[in-house]
Amino acid sequence: MAKVNEHYLKLQAGYLFPEIGRRVRAFCEANSDADVIKMGIGDVTQPLPAAVIRAMHDAVDELANVETFKGYGPETGYSFLREAIAENDFAERGVEIDPEEIFISDGSKSDSSNLVEVFGADNKIAVFDPVYPVYVDTNVMVGRTGPALDSGRYEGLVYLPLTEETGFQPPLPKEKVDLIYLCNPNNPTGTVASKKTLQKWVDYAREHEAVIFYDAAYEAFISEDDMPHSIYEIPGAKDVAIELRSFSKTAGFTGTRCAFTVVPRQLTGTTSDGQSQALHPLWYRRHSTKSNGVSYPIQRGAAAIYTPDGKQQVRKLVDFYLENARLLREGMSDAGFTVYGGVNAPYVWLKTPTGLSSWEFFDLLLEKSNIVGTPGSGFGAAGEGFFRLSAFSSRENTVEAIARIQKSVAAKV
Ligand code: MLT
Repeated sequence: MAKVNEHYLKLQAGYLFPEIGRRVRAFCEANSDADVIKMGIGDVTQPLPAAVIRAMHDAVDELANVETFKGYGPETGYSFLREAIAENDFAERGVEIDPEEIFISDGSKSDSSNLVEVFGADNKIAVFDPVYPVYVDTNVMVGRTGPALDSGRYEGLVYLPLTEETGFQPPLPKEKVDLIYLCNPNNPTGTVASKKTLQKWVDYAREHEAVIFYDAAYEAFISEDDMPHSIYEIPGAKDVAIELRSFSKTAGFTGTRCAFTVVPRQLTGTTSDGQSQALHPLWYRRHSTKSNGVSYPIQRGAAAIYTPDGKQQVRKLVDFYLENARLLREGMSDAGFTVYGGVNAPYVWLKTPTGLSSWEFFDLLLEKSNIVGTPGSGFGAAGEGFFRLSAFSSRENTVEAIARIQKSVAAKV
């Protein structure tokens, strides 16, 4: 009899977003007339920028001709895209990244899950709480945690709480940890860490020989000056950090799929006999063995965001969602909610009305306003009593959602 991976049996309930989808489907089946507005999963709604579409069409045409046809591409990505990233995302901010240190992939979700493979099983792992559930669940799946506890946390992980009191910036771990997941701008709280805060993390990692997985999927939404866009803007970070970026939220690629991960050549871990080992060749080995990369038309589309037209169109797209975030922030605040985030991120993080848990508020909002959000507790125990609204809707739906909440739910705050 084939044995199953029993670590999967430790996982609690379903993955958060399918679970929300299941509840919403049940509600819609029972209320077929309901006009439900979805602000749960952070999924984009606006079309791909025109420059991206043009580049994709042209790339498809290339595939139609024997002279320009392409089969397998380089597993780590075409150099035209890696060079455009190195120049525009890094060199322009004074950060030197060799294109060979950039690995193109189909998403930060897969990259953040796969990265754990090149690290040993006995690393101590720190995550924020609340946290993007993928970081936790993928470690559970490969057996890097003990069982789930009553609190919903997993034995063996180090949880760093994000609280109102600290502006949702967590304390440094009290004990020595080896791997740290750091999502900035933060999902789900929508808050952002300053250079000073990131410097603390880099210093910690250097002192304790830890590695930071820096997930900057929401970097494009940073609107305040002086906030770091890359962890490599922080001195010493290239020795301790892997950075993940995504075209999903920046340029509307959630369905199209394209992202990248930077693994600096100088970044090292250690072997069990204490030898220093560079991580770049390990990640290269993993990537080239298990993936044939991202399709040519998609990489051409991604590269188009760095053209003058593409840059302008992406700016407009990001500004559109940031305006939704502003409307949500102000609308929820007018309705009496305590509101965080939404300035440097497409997520607004609300406190639920007194006495209501995150899931109770989810049900209330769905029933009374026909609006779907994400319960804070779905991101971790410390998210209890909070609720996330996504700004990735249409303008019409954002305005309508605010009006509905102000009319039917505000009185309960
Ligand atoms: C979210 O809603 O947190 C994100 O859309 C999930 C993801 O990017 O996988």
